[in-house]
Amino acid sequence: MPLPALRFEVFTLFPEVFEPYLHSSILQRARQRGLVEVNLYNIRDWTTDRHHITDDEPYGGGGGMVMKPEPIFAALESVLGAPPACPVILLTPQGRTFTQSVAHELAFGEAPAFDQTRRLALLCGRYEGVDERVRQHLVSDQISIGDYVLTGGELAALVVIDATARWIPGVLGDPNGALDDSHASGLLEYPHYTRPPEFRGWSVPDILLSGDHGRIARWRREQSILRTWQRRRDLLETAPLSKLDRKFLDQLKTSTVYDEPDVSSETPGTGESPQTPDTP
Ligand code: 6GU
Repeated sequence: MPLPALRFEVFTLFPEVFEPYLHSSILQRARQRGLVEVNLYNIRDWTTDRHHITDDEPYGGGGGMVMKPEPIFAALESVLGAPPACPVILLTPQGRTFTQSVAHELAFGEAPAFDQTRRLALLCGRYEGVDERVRQHLVSDQISIGDYVLTGGELAALVVIDATARWIPGVLGDPNGALDDSHASGLLEYPHYTRPPEFRGWSVPDILLSGDHGRIARWRREQSILRTWQRRRDLLETAPLSKLDRKFLDQLKTSTVYDEPDVSSETPGTGESPQTPDTP
């Protein structure tokens, strides 16, 4: 039985910024197939004053503007019920950091209300922030996409929608597509090549043309570990590694050739083929 669509209910002052991305290839197809649904709500539509004001000066003074609580509560409660019957996620630099495993959690979450409705509300903060009472009494989770500050939560919401949707079976062409990705395995992805076999004198590693699927799988695994060692050593502390993987990693650790990030010209272990330097 296929899962019912994962529904994102997005509350924002700038719904128009979502449209082009939601209409681009993979998300568009996922929505057309009924795997993902994204509904956009303009918080301004729930203002009741003549000027449709959504922000105001902060109590206590200081710079910047704060999003008013009334239109936010009115918008979410009219769409989701009072109190909302699904998780309400505020996009804010103060949230917990979004990772591949948080995306997995959102795609297959455990909250009972979520299980039935498969509905997630995303609230995009703007300006200096939202009135604290929204955080305290309406929001159930807060997510940041990294340690930098954006002018609003809209780009972060798109990142969350995209990375979460990719976990849904059928969204990617390949049924287990997301499982091979950088980060899904806890490691960075191995290098990819396609035709032609030689381009400007740069060759595809011979092993990939060998047709030996067992050795290709091992080479790819080793390339993943090598890359992760070179670029993101922190990931190796938690990535699940087999005995064979560990042996390979121990070889890397005792070899001085691979100390510098991405300067290797040889593949250890298999000793097969030179590693093509990456373009930046
Ligand atoms: Cl979710 N919002 C804003 N405004 N800035 C961010 C962010 C979110 N995540 C990282 N930076």
